[in-house]
Amino acid sequence: MQVNPAAGAMPASGIREIMNAAWGRTDVLHLEVGQPDFPTPPHIVEAAHRAMLAGHTGYTPTAGIPELRTALAGKIGNRNGFTVAPEQVVLGNGGDQALHATLTAMTRPGDGVLLPDPAWPNFDMMATLLGLPAAHYSLTAAGGYVPDVAELERLVTPSTRVLLLNSPSNPLGSVIGRERMSELLAFAAAHDLWVLSDECYDEVTFDGTMVSPAALDRDGRVASVYSFSKTYAMTGWRLGYVAAPPALAEVLTKVQEPLVSCLNTPTQYAALAALESPPEVLQGMVGAYRRRRDLVTDRLQELGMAAFRPAGAFYTWVDVSAGGLGAREFALRLLAEESVALAPGTAFGPGGEGYVRLSLAASEADLLEGATRLARLWHRLREQVPGGR
Ligand SMILES: Cc1ncc(COP(=O)(O)O)c(C=O)c1O
Repeated sequence: MQVNPAAGAMPASGIREIMNAAWGRTDVLHLEVGQPDFPTPPHIVEAAHRAMLAGHTGYTPTAGIPELRTALAGKIGNRNGFTVAPEQVVLGNGGDQALHATLTAMTRPGDGVLLPDPAWPNFDMMATLLGLPAAHYSLTAAGGYVPDVAELERLVTPSTRVLLLNSPSNPLGSVIGRERMSELLAFAAAHDLWVLSDECYDEVTFDGTMVSPAALDRDGRVASVYSFSKTYAMTGWRLGYVAAPPALAEVLTKVQEPLVSCLNTPTQYAALAALESPPEVLQGMVGAYRRRRDLVTDRLQELGMAAFRPAGAFYTWVDVSAGGLGAREFALRLLAEESVALAPGTAFGPGGEGYVRLSLAASEADLLEGATRLARLWHRLREQVPGGR
């Protein structure tokens, strides 16, 4: 029997390779995983518990319970800077499934999509599954890790339908500023593209430069995707949501019916409690990520390495190219010789060659030790590179 060749051809995860190699070892510092190391705040857990005891255990409307969609429209107005009606908010099973459903609603097989490189690998997997040929725009150190409109102009074709943006970026931690975002919207308008904006790290930002493209949108071409996973340390609860122009939101609601029917009901009530969290809850986690970011980038820079200081998300992107190894080999050697697990840049696309991603979802002590060992291997390798010093 034949399987769908597109599904069968999806590449294995480059992060998973390192996790598997580290599996069962008790001596490893884990800096590879992209999920908060905080527990879900207890008042959120209690709200889910209360909802279950109160009998909120049946199906809900496909797009979500009305009170949550209303609360999310309020959150978007207050924190993301644009106005939507509750009917424009549609829940998904995590930002991941919300992105996939939105792409499904925006495109027909064969339509082109513009995707970042390096990027979260699931974007490419979605495009593969949906039969959408992807062209990749590069995010480089020289370009400040934000999209370059001139490059996009070279990549766009008459069959391109979607520009996907991810700010703050996983794996880079870069944030697209207001001016560049306006240029990107003008580009999308000139070529009549949808903008699919992955803002799943919208509340994990450090310098106030985060801007939602929907806040600058004049003609209803932007769909913005958010998640509870990173903001409230709720990765396993699976709740994301899309804010879309009205006609797209209507189609998206229909698309969600065969895909999920509705979202986990107790999770929806927990989300209501999450949105009412006292400000200290978020400030505490974001403050911890900010301290860790500064500790790690300062340490790596003291040790002579080029590490990007992220403006958002919880990753540090480190240039290891002068060690003379490919990113994958560097990550495998670091695990074997220094017992540190991290993600090779190539797990996020060819543009990640020569880099590694270090997750800030670890203790300060582990991060400092991990950074020190990383630099130690890098210096050892450089001594062996002909003319490397
Ligand atoms: C860039 C980006 N977008 C979306 C997601 C989706 O997260 P979730 O499905 O848990 O909401 C992730 C998760 O790692 C991510 O890194």
